[in-house]
Formats: sequence, structure tokens, C-alpha cells
Amino acid sequence: KTTVKAIYQNSDKYLDKEVKLEGWIRNIRSSKSFGFIELNDGTFFKSIQIVFGEQLQNFREIGKLHLSTSIMVKGKLVATPQAKQPFEIQATEIEIEGISTSDYPLQKKRHTFEYLRSIAHLRPRSNTFSAVFRVRSILSYAIHKFFQERGFVYVHTPIITSSDAEGAGEMFRLTTLDLQNLPMTEDNEIDFSKDFFGKSTNLTVSGQLEAEAYALAFKDVYTFGPTFRAENSNTARHAAEFWMVEPEIAFADLEDNMKLAEDMMKYIISYVLENAKEEMEFFNSFIDQGLIARLEGIVNSDFEKITYTQAIELLKNAKKEFQYPVEWGVDLQTEHERYITEEVYKKPVFVTDYPKEIKAFYMRINEDDKTVAAMDLLVPGIGEIIGGSQREERLEILEQKILDNGMDPKDYWWYLELRKYGGTKHAGFGLGFERAVMYLTGMTNIRDVIPFPRTVKSAEF
Ligand code: 4AD
Ligand code: MG
Repeated sequence: KTTVKAIYQNSDKYLDKEVKLEGWIRNIRSSKSFGFIELNDGTFFKSIQIVFGEQLQNFREIGKLHLSTSIMVKGKLVATPQAKQPFEIQATEIEIEGISTSDYPLQKKRHTFEYLRSIAHLRPRSNTFSAVFRVRSILSYAIHKFFQERGFVYVHTPIITSSDAEGAGEMFRLTTLDLQNLPMTEDNEIDFSKDFFGKSTNLTVSGQLEAEAYALAFKDVYTFGPTFRAENSNTARHAAEFWMVEPEIAFADLEDNMKLAEDMMKYIISYVLENAKEEMEFFNSFIDQGLIARLEGIVNSDFEKITYTQAIELLKNAKKEFQYPVEWGVDLQTEHERYITEEVYKKPVFVTDYPKEIKAFYMRINEDDKTVAAMDLLVPGIGEIIGGSQREERLEILEQKILDNGMDPKDYWWYLELRKYGGTKHAGFGLGFERAVMYLTGMTNIRDVIPFPRTVKSAEF
């Protein structure tokens, strides 16, 4: 058996030889004495053309097959120099594996992404989603490759946790369905503080706190896993379940952190351009014209760096009405982020040193006592793609920050101990993996870059 990918990558080796393929019919047309099948076997973005003629004993049966029937084909690979595709297979045998029916929902025509979301189990068979999900896979590999080549240790941080890593209260709480044994409070309500684990637990919003523990043992670590947020944001960039890449580096400050983020972004973009050529050409032609040139430009130029205070000045001087008014102290909204990166700099921009009130408790307070050593990376088309910071390593200050944020230091006892036993300056960031896939493909809705999206009020599959 061979694969369509092997044929495209090494056609000389297969030319004029007998090959055997298994795959699904993407398109079929036939006349009285011969027909054509576009066969896709899932190993490659492109399909391969099969020609079949009336010498096949099941010729008439084949001609009536519906789209997405799975078949096995034996035949000879021949060059077709005058045709659009460089080669085709002249079938000597076609075996039907599993038939498909005429009501197959992915007929050959343009479908809206909304419609395709309603058939999330079938959409990976369409061109667009075949390209998106192969790029998603290649991008995951590029991320591991980048960190592993630099000696980072991959840490599997827990999904079930009892801490709120962002201190923002946007967690999905866990409980069991063991109704008889659920502990109850005096008011006859479920006592989550005494449930399954003997305390209140939730799905993690970020692996950062645990990654910090490991960075203070291994120096350079990263996590890459699913994270969960019960944010009520019904936007094209927020999902309740998304994947995050979180490196954490010890003996490092905010500058080192930005350097790492920029190197990582350039590396993964180059890797995908190099290793997903067919898919990227497809996005460049059908989803986002100019995508490839833009991404190449990013790899070859420096990212911009501005402080939050400078960003506020820029926004105040903008000849533009924003929906959310701007003044020092407000959090940047997507419209602000996009203005800065799309209209002012037209490239990725790091915004640093945000007011402490609008950022998480663990970020290191700057000398001015007003701002923290935070960095967000904003990119055109998306807005915030990375959020990170240098961490507060000073025990007393961190304790006070936890209190100021209305949290209980007792719940963070182990996190505080990291500052007690050989703490050091350290930093890290989180890359929203779906946003990275959107950035690389030009897809504009997060629901279209994760196989089975979970967003507010939608979990159909
Ligand atoms: O800025 P965030 O909230 O930072 C953290 O969670 C830190 N603990 C990361 C760290 O320093 N280790 O999230 C990081 C990134 C965002 O920049 C965004 O790209 C993505 O995660 N993100 C989301 N992506 C999809 N849906 C959501 N609801 C997201 N929330 C954050
Ligand atoms: Mg953020």
C-alpha cells in the first residue's frame, strides 16, 4: 500500500508502476465508457485523480457511487504532462469499502463556515478544515520542537486544581454526580468545600503556577495543554476550552521573556511555512490574500515594544472614535489592541508595564509601585495573542498582593514557599494556541480552528 502523500513527494519512484491506495471519493464524474474520481486519502492536502474505464467488471456500480464513499484502488501511476494535475492513476481494480448516500451533507459547493460548524464531525473532510487541522498539528509539533531544541523540560501540569491561577474567578467548578453522598451545608446546599477532594476544585485556567514550581527546579520548562475559562465572552476569539503554551524561565526577567516570545513566534511561523506548503498556499489564495508575504515579513523584522503608558498616549491621540473610552488605568480592549498593531505599527507589538490593578496578582511590581512587569504581544488581525510577565519573587510583596486581591494566602502556601526556598527572578508567558492557529491560517473565528469548539451556550458535539 502507498499513500497520496508519498506519491506527491516522490512521484518518480512510482511512475509507470502499480500502486494501491485507500481513501474517500472527493469528487466523481463518469460517462458511458469512462470516469474520473478525485481520491483523498487524508495523508495529503491534495487529492489524486483516478481514471476508470469500462474494462472494470464493476464499472457501472462505480459510476453511481456518492461522494465520500471509501474505496481501495489498484492501478498504474502515469504522467499527464498536458493536464492540470501532473499525474493520474489508471485503475485496474476498485473495491468499495463503505458506501455513502446521496444525502451526504458535504456536496461539492461552497458551504458557509456556520453551516460547517453544525457538522463538526464531517468538516475535516472539506478542503478548508483539512488544511486548518493539519496546520494545527504541524504547529503543535513546531512548538515542541522549538522548546525541546532549547533544552526546555515539558511539564504536565494538572487539569484539576484547587487554585485560581489568574485570580479572576472564571473557573468551572468540579463536583461529582454521586447525589446520595454529596456533603450538604446547614442551609441544605451542596457543600463544595467538602466534595470529592475534600475541598473546592475547578478546571485549570492556566498551568502557570505549577510551571513556576518546575522552573525553580529545572530552570526552563513549558506546558502545553488544555485550559478552561468560564468567561461570558461571546466573541470570535474566546472559547471556554482552549489550549495554551506556557513557558516559564528561571534567572530571567521581562526582557528575556520578550526575547523568548519573539524567537518562538518567528520559529513556529517559519516551520509552518516550510512544512505545510500546500495548506498555506490554499489559505493564501482562498482565505486571506497576502498571508504568506505578511508572515514572511514578520519572520524577517523586529517586533515593536511600547509601554502601556505610551499605548494610552497613542490611543488618546488617535483620530478615531473608540467604543470604549481611553484613559490611563483602563484595560485595553480588542479595538484598542487592533488599532495599535494594525493601524499604527502594522506588525507585532509588545505592550509592557500595565497598571497593577488590571493585571494578575503574581506579576512583579515595578519601581514606580504603579505598574507591573507585564507584557502582552498584540498582532494584526487578532489583538492579544500572548500574555505574560516577570513574576513577583519577593515573598512579603507577593503575600500582600494576594491579600489585596481578596485571596487567601493559605490557599497559595506552596506557591509562596517557592519564594522562601531559593527563589529567583523568573518570568513566563502564555500563548493562546487557537489564536496562533488563527494568526497563521487567516481564519477569523476561534470556532473554526479547534475540532469541537466549546463556547458560551454551544457544546453540540
Ligand atoms: O493572558 P492570559 O490570561 O495569561 C495567562 O493565563 C497566564 N497565566 C499566562 C502565563 O503567563 N503563563 O492568557 C494567555 C493567552 C492570551 O494571550 C490569549 O491568547 C489566550 O491565552 N486566551 C484565550 N484564548 C481563547 N479563549 C479564551 N477564553 C482565552 N483566554 C486567554
Ligand atoms: Mg491576557
